[in-house]
Amino acid sequence: MPLTVLVGTQWGDEGKGRAVDVLSADAGMVVRCQGGTNAGHTVIAGETILKLRLIPSSILRPAVPVIGDGVVIDPEVLLGEIDALSAQGIHCDRLLVSGNAHLIMPYHRVFDRVIERHLGRAQLGTTRKGIGPAYADKAARIGLRVQDLLDMKIFGQKLEVNLKEKNAVLAKVYNQLPLDAKKIIAEYEGYAERLAPYIADTSLAISRALQGGLHVLLEGAQGTLLDIDHGTYPFVTSSQPIAAGILAGAGVGPCAVDRVVGATKAHCTRVGTGPFPTEIEGDIADRLRGVRGELGAEFGTVTGRQRRMGWLDGVLLRYATRLNSLSDVFLSKFDKLSGVGQLKIATAYRYEGEVYDEFPPHQTIFHKCEPIYEELEGWEEDISGARAFADLPAAAQRYVRRVEEIADVPVTWISVGPEREQLVSTATVSV
Ligand code: GDP
Ligand code: IMO
Ligand code: MG
Repeated sequence: MPLTVLVGTQWGDEGKGRAVDVLSADAGMVVRCQGGTNAGHTVIAGETILKLRLIPSSILRPAVPVIGDGVVIDPEVLLGEIDALSAQGIHCDRLLVSGNAHLIMPYHRVFDRVIERHLGRAQLGTTRKGIGPAYADKAARIGLRVQDLLDMKIFGQKLEVNLKEKNAVLAKVYNQLPLDAKKIIAEYEGYAERLAPYIADTSLAISRALQGGLHVLLEGAQGTLLDIDHGTYPFVTSSQPIAAGILAGAGVGPCAVDRVVGATKAHCTRVGTGPFPTEIEGDIADRLRGVRGELGAEFGTVTGRQRRMGWLDGVLLRYATRLNSLSDVFLSKFDKLSGVGQLKIATAYRYEGEVYDEFPPHQTIFHKCEPIYEELEGWEEDISGARAFADLPAAAQRYVRRVEEIADVPVTWISVGPEREQLVSTATVSV
């Protein structure tokens, strides 16, 4: 009963969609476990280009797609996604949606917007999809869950209680118009009817799939440094994108795990505000980012924002190995390093004369530190046609080997382009 966890090791957008498409080739079930419509996972296979928000990135594969307990679901976006896929001939009939997953409500989106505005210069740069406010209500135990859609009477009662408080705060603190309960109930009644056939006990379904010998893949969203506990708080998301959070969101225990794969970009990116020690600007950053509209260019999948660019940060990669118990790295965007010239990887930070070779214990150090770089020889060759490790130039091979030493786990997959077949796999065991 092989269970694989796929986790992002940086600040999101590491190519998790691309990795899941590869790793799910033989999977029986693939599960989204946390986060919500803040995620944007790209899958490219032939002519098909998908930018997925809630539907697992294995949707082009035979695996059963599952949305687990830890996800916050915006039903309008989910149904829109199902319809858009269906219009492309991709059907989600076998989708299972956890009844325990929380619902994103219209007031969550409003709060996300007004709280950000209220924060002014201190704003996080959220995706404005209502993620933080929805998880806040979940923690406060006033959230509405997918299973509430199955009993609209309970749904209405919970909504009334919520709206009383939400509308008062919206009006008195944020100068916003109140939201109308009847309108929301009518809207969610429509969603209830369409979502009902998908609602299931997903933790049980996963357990049965594992017992039946199927390969189950848990698809993380966001990334390790966006984790609410272990990331660059407060510049994080409101869920736990580390492996333990993914397992909790799926409803699976840790001993079931066989493999934890860390999706890692060969360079690093970040969207939104917050510290980023290896950030670079200028020609190399522009080159790595690519041009808006071209395949694989670094513009937000959800918000269209230009992503901030930087060198690979080895300190954070080691941190990700520790936090997630990584067993393998899936290295993406390796083709983008061709022709860049001399390459850099941060191996430690310096702050006020002290050297830190682990993630610093205080936020001020991380905000103000200077990265200490190791320089590596670059290569000029286009490597997007490489399909075996031996096809890579010697300098590219050395870069991969150095990443393995720093991460202290093997780089088992090297992605050399955004498309499905643009891959070098050194996997000795099939996942
Ligand atoms: P995710 O959120 O982790 O799934 O990542 P995104 O889909 O938001 O962003 C990753 C971007 O990199 C997408 O545009 C992918 O098509 C692209 N991409 C993934 N792997 C590669 C690769 O190896 N080379 C190139 N050039 N692009 C890649
Ligand atoms: P995927 O799954 C990159 C970032 C936002 C912001 C912070 C908080 O595609 O890798 P939120 O809306 O979650 O409250 O925003 O987290 N963020 C992401 N950045 N990729 C993502 O998802 C992200 N999801 C959230 O930009 O800085
Ligand atoms: Mg993304």
